[in-house]
Amino acid sequence: ETERTLAIVKPDGVFGNYTSSIRKIILDSGFSIQREATVHLDEDSVRSFYAEHSTKSFFPNLVKYMTSGPVLIMALQKANAIADWRTLIGPTDAHKAKSTHPHSIRAMCGQDLERNCVHGSDSRESAAREISFFFTETFSEGTTLKH
Ligand code: CMP
Repeated sequence: ETERTLAIVKPDGVFGNYTSSIRKIILDSGFSIQREATVHLDEDSVRSFYAEHSTKSFFPNLVKYMTSGPVLIMALQKANAIADWRTLIGPTDAHKAKSTHPHSIRAMCGQDLERNCVHGSDSRESAAREISFFFTETFSEGTTLKH
C-alpha cells in the first residue's frame, strides 16, 4: 500500500551541497518525489512545525539551526515510505550514525544529535500533519507552499 512521508534536507545538508546525492539516494531507493520546495523557514514556522518539542531544552537551538539557511522539503511516496525513509536516514544522532549505520544519510552529511542534516516523519499521523503543514493538495500542476 502506497504511503507518503515528509523529508527535509536541513540547512547543514543544503550548505554542504548534499541535496543532489540525497535526491539520487531517494530515487535509487524507489521513492517518487511527489512535491518539493526550497524555502528559508522563519522562526514561527519552525516553532509550529516542531511544536511537540517546544518544552525541550534544545528547542531554542533547534529553532536557530532550522532558520540558519534554506531547507529542501520533499513529500516522498512509495510502499512503506515512512519506515523505509527512516531506515535510510539512520539514527537521530548523526555522531552515533557514523559508527553504527555508516551507510546512512545522517552518517554521510550529519554532525551530531542536533545537526543531523535530514528529517523524516515518524508515523502516519506525523506524515499527514507534516505534509499538509507545507503543501496544499492540488489537482493542478505546481506546488503551493504554506510556509
Ligand atoms: P528531527 O528528526 O528533525 O526531529 C527533531 C530535531 O530536534 C532532531 O531531528 C534534531 O535536529 C533535534 N534534536 C533532537 N533531539 C535533540 C537533542 N537531545 N539535542 C539537540 N537537538 C536535538
